[in-house]
Amino acid sequence: MRAVVQERYGPPEQVLRVKQIERPVPGPGAVLVRVRASSVNTPDWAAVTGVPYVLRLQAGLRPPADAVRGSDLSGVVEEVGEGVTDLRPGDEVFGSVWDDGFTSAGAFAEYTVAPVERLVAKPPGIGFEEAAAAVMSGLTALCAVRDTAGVERGTKILVNGASGGVGTFAVQIAAHYGAEVTGVCGPRNVDMVRELGARHVVDYTRVDFTRAPERYDVILDNVLNHPPSRTARALAPGGVLIPNSLGNSGGVFAGLGRMARAKLLGLARRADVRFSPCVVDREHLRDLGGLLASGAVATVIDRAYPLEEAGAAVAHMLGHHARGNVAVAVAV
Ligand SMILES: NC(=O)c1ccc[n+]([C@@H]2O[C@H](COP(=O)([O-])OP(=O)(O)OC[C@H]3O[C@@H](n4cnc5c(N)ncnc54)[C@H](OP(=O)(O)O)[C@@H]3O)[C@@H](O)[C@H]2O)c1
Repeated sequence: MRAVVQERYGPPEQVLRVKQIERPVPGPGAVLVRVRASSVNTPDWAAVTGVPYVLRLQAGLRPPADAVRGSDLSGVVEEVGEGVTDLRPGDEVFGSVWDDGFTSAGAFAEYTVAPVERLVAKPPGIGFEEAAAAVMSGLTALCAVRDTAGVERGTKILVNGASGGVGTFAVQIAAHYGAEVTGVCGPRNVDMVRELGARHVVDYTRVDFTRAPERYDVILDNVLNHPPSRTARALAPGGVLIPNSLGNSGGVFAGLGRMARAKLLGLARRADVRFSPCVVDREHLRDLGGLLASGAVATVIDRAYPLEEAGAAVAHMLGHHARGNVAVAVAV
């Protein structure tokens, strides 16, 4: 089968290439999926570039030979492993092969093997690209907005980075739960963020929300472009800060330095700082599928690249100005 493999760290278009490799075999509790689409997320560009360097301590000084990238997926079940009883060949599914973001058996391929607990039926009426591109971005947003922040009717939430993959979902999900949403984005995305459900939109080239008078019950910070202590000043009393960014710069630690400073801020009890992992399980996938199927949220796709151009897709994400999500489409 054709897969996009990586044998060293570096610029995506230089280190990712299409290669014929063995089709994986589903073990017990796993499912072989004929991939129709995948998409690009932060762990993908971090795993391809090996930056921030500190992540190589976990991922290895070199990636494993023929490491296949990509974790989000949608497709059609081809074969099920021992013990899988509720999925059958021919079922349309979406989900993830994500383990720690550095999996060597990824979804930028014609076939991949996913654990059954990370696959559910694709929502009816939703395209393969829209389903795949919703997985990590949509689940990160759902976990942060609903589970971690507990957003409800009337909650004033600010989403920094409202026009990216996570942000476009966070704005829609918060609006769906009745929150008063403020989205922060660049000038070309102001109209889109408003259309997604933000009552107020801040163009970061004109206004610095950390220095403005408005106060928020929740700040979901997908960019961390301000020191967390300054961002926390925009919280209302008792407000919650959710730092959620690996950052846009490279180097040894990238945004991890600011994540650590946010942690210290919380430990010093100067703000209610809550970290929000992306939970990829069947319950959350079904909830996300329900939101997509009902039309409460829709996946914003900037561009869908063919499998052969996965390197360009990852490079596009690395620019940190993709409008919504970047999909990878696998021809049938
Ligand atoms: N918690 C988890 O498990 C988890 C999982 C996945 C991702 N994440 C995190 O989520 C974050 C967001 O990811 P993403 O995929 O949505 O996309 P992204 O490409 O990292 O972020 C795009 C957003 O950042 C904004 N932005 C870029 N440069 C900016 C600047 N200088 N000042 C202010 N805003 C700027 C963009 O605005 P414009 O384009 O409008 O300029 C856009 O809204 C990432 O940092 C990632 O680490 C966390």
